[in-house]
Amino acid sequence: MKVNPVIQTMLEHRSIRKFKDETPSDETVQAIFRAGQQAPFAFQLYSVLLSRNSKRNPWNAPLLFTICVDSHKFELIMARRGWKMATNDLSLLFFGTQDAAYMAENMVIAGRSLGLGSCFLGSAPYIADKIAKEYQLPQRVFPLVQLAMGYPAENPPTRPRYPKEFALFEDRYPKLDDETVSKAMKQMDNGYLAQDYYRKARYRIPLEDKKRKETFTFDNYSWTEHICRKVGQWFPEPKELLEQLEKRGFHIDKKKTA
Ligand SMILES: Cc1cc2nc3c(=O)[nH]c(=O)nc-3n(C[C@H](O)[C@H](O)[C@H](O)COP(=O)(O)O)c2cc1C
Repeated sequence: MKVNPVIQTMLEHRSIRKFKDETPSDETVQAIFRAGQQAPFAFQLYSVLLSRNSKRNPWNAPLLFTICVDSHKFELIMARRGWKMATNDLSLLFFGTQDAAYMAENMVIAGRSLGLGSCFLGSAPYIADKIAKEYQLPQRVFPLVQLAMGYPAENPPTRPRYPKEFALFEDRYPKLDDETVSKAMKQMDNGYLAQDYYRKARYRIPLEDKKRKETFTFDNYSWTEHICRKVGQWFPEPKELLEQLEKRGFHIDKKKTA
């Protein structure tokens, strides 16, 4: 495999959840933002909010970016040109999510190249109303994800990923046989177990269905069981997210009348 400094920086990525009490300079913040901005975009349907209030930021990070899907400012441009949004909000959110996400990951990589570490927080959409109040967001701006960033005060190992044959499919999607699935699960689970990840984090998601018996200890509880317990138990209804979207002015099942 070819490796150069850019690829090396990407391969060394790991989320950082402990930060030094050292504030990155304005120049550093500017570079991270600009590198983020230069990501490919569909419509530039994003805005980035920044908080330097480390006392209140998650993990006391010196920087907290909240990356939002933003149709508001685009609609200001449209109004200036005498247009109204005709595209439905589901389509806008698909494109806006990508615009925001590619930007966010560019910021992660740029940060890392300057010696900063970071970690995403996925709760933003579920607390969109709270974030909207805090930052006085206009309607049609939806907080997608938060990114805590600062100089690392920990040095965790890189976390495992699926083997290539479970993730890269050339020319056609293969039939994933038992052996391929088992190998992928083993690579993830053994990787996390070798790092004693969940024991160190003291985190095992409880089983909500009393009919299911707990058979796992920290000796065998690992990523595949962890992730199954998340999506096998949490948020069966889209209600919470739909409500948050509605409050922010996004109505995903409605036709627009331009
Ligand atoms: C959309 C998204 C949401 C995430 N939310 C959280 C979070 O709320 N808390 C957290 O500690 N890590 C969060 N993460 C970080 C992942 O847990 C982490 O990237 C993953 O476990 C792989 O580990 P690595 O980044 O160290 O390689 C999130 C990552 C993404 C992409």
